[in-house]
Amino acid sequence: MPAITATAPGKIILFGEHAVVYGHPAIAVPVNQVRARAIISARPDQPSGWVRIQAPNIGLDALLDELPGDNPLSFTINHVFAAVDITRAPAMEIRITSTIPIAAGLGSGAAVSIALIRGLSKFLGKPLSDEQVSSLAYAVEKLHHGTPSGIDNTVITYNKPVYFSRNKPGKADQVEKFNVARSFTILIGDSGIPSPTALTVGDVRSAWQEHQELYENLFTSVGTVVNQAKEAIQAGDIATLGPLMDENQELLVRIGVSCEELDHLVRVARESGAFGAKLSGGGRGGNMIALVPGESAKAIAQALISAGATNTIVTMVRN
Ligand code: PMV
Repeated sequence: MPAITATAPGKIILFGEHAVVYGHPAIAVPVNQVRARAIISARPDQPSGWVRIQAPNIGLDALLDELPGDNPLSFTINHVFAAVDITRAPAMEIRITSTIPIAAGLGSGAAVSIALIRGLSKFLGKPLSDEQVSSLAYAVEKLHHGTPSGIDNTVITYNKPVYFSRNKPGKADQVEKFNVARSFTILIGDSGIPSPTALTVGDVRSAWQEHQELYENLFTSVGTVVNQAKEAIQAGDIATLGPLMDENQELLVRIGVSCEELDHLVRVARESGAFGAKLSGGGRGGNMIALVPGESAKAIAQALISAGATNTIVTMVRN
């Protein structure tokens, strides 16, 4: 049997991070320049039930049985076995690699889960539907960071720009694939500061508990910006998107999730010709994004590197 390969893209949140955890909408887009990959090969020389996992990026080479149940990879694999109703899997070797930076707001955890879920279910002859893939990946996201909104697993599963609102109790998540009337260029700059999302999400929750009214108002304002951004994208009105990014950044600063380095990169991007810029994802590190004229992307990327960014990616947002 030939090896099965499945891949999944990274993602960025264009508008609405943090407020999305509290039921407000957010917009996320896939980033296909970076990817997670799972390669699954049969090992007929080994007894059934034998599963070897190699993930060189994190220095892991182990048998499934040796990993604790709450390890995200063993958790994912065991849940796929249950979802496709397999009690004793054929012997296999799973190799996982990724070019998506870890803990940088690019959705590396969700992308690894989704590549693994798709590859494994296909290898077992029972490919899962997008809904099943996304909901399984959501269960893994909960291991990574307690109260995820579900936006990462959604945008990465569908590999399309999405407008997303988290479910309210008893209601399904709202996932809308909306039209990008005119493609536009986003420059991603990595601050090089690892920032686990669980920490910033937890800090925002404590601040929200302490100053409920203030934070509810900030989240509502973010929601308004997100809705204006969606309308602008659907109308191909790219000129209004830049100022909306700046407005979202200002709100994120007030929510308390920016940091000096991100503020600096945002400022440099604007001064170098970006239409607007903001942090993206959990904040306090990780990535910032800038809406840039396509022809200036390289020069602005260079300015970000000179200002301390450790890496840049240029991506086009399109349907
Ligand atoms: O982009 P990430 O993976 O760092 O996710 C952050 C997005 C938050 O809104 C802060 C959290 C979430 O679960 O939506």
